[in-house]
Amino acid sequence: MKKILLLGDIHANYPALRAIEKYIKPDRFDHIINTGDFTVYSTFPNETIQWFRERKKTISILGNTDRRVLRILKGKKLKKPRKEEKRAMYFWTSENLLSKNSAYLKSLPKQADFTVGKIRIGLFHGTLDDPDEELFPSAPASRFQQLAKCSSYQVQIMGHSHVPYYKVADGVHFINPGSAGRMFDGDPRASFAILKISSGKIGVEHFRIPYPVKEVVKSLKKNRLPDIYTKMFQIGKKLN
Ligand SMILES: [Fe+2]
Repeated sequence: MKKILLLGDIHANYPALRAIEKYIKPDRFDHIINTGDFTVYSTFPNETIQWFRERKKTISILGNTDRRVLRILKGKKLKKPRKEEKRAMYFWTSENLLSKNSAYLKSLPKQADFTVGKIRIGLFHGTLDDPDEELFPSAPASRFQQLAKCSSYQVQIMGHSHVPYYKVADGVHFINPGSAGRMFDGDPRASFAILKISSGKIGVEHFRIPYPVKEVVKSLKKNRLPDIYTKMFQIGKKLN
């Protein structure tokens, strides 16, 4: 049996990542997947990226927040987001990111794939069509069927919507592990999933575990970042 740890949308929330690490001991997994958005909204982008850099069995892709941070570092204009408090988080991240960690981000693709036994697995931040598409479990069945049709992946792992789910459409397994570090559903606990593949059979389990939100709050305040994010992490809801 192969065991695959599914992480995504960590958003620089290293205290959440560390809580997951303690809970499941990642070294026992055959692969550790990250669907992107390593950075922005919490204050630990370096610790988060380093955690992945130090591990050999990881497969990671970029998310939209990571791509924006890289744009700033390239000296390009940041058109979106427009809200000042959001922009502050992007600029804070780009100013505080160590060069070895930004180099690691630059090396990552927008999407990836790998094979377990005979099963082909695609990894996307949004969807295989669009890295910025937010695919919610409530999307019409026809959308999942379209995505199932236009590739040979039997498993599609996605992030971006921050909603944990597992759906099967036309024989294709769609999995979103939810956000490890920035939940939107009013439950601030960290979300992740475990994918198990045994003799071609696929099993998925989602988890929600508590982490020390206080550490994130303390660091946001210490760095004088907008109060709205303190509340966001405390209540587990998107506030802007
Ligand atoms: Fe995200």
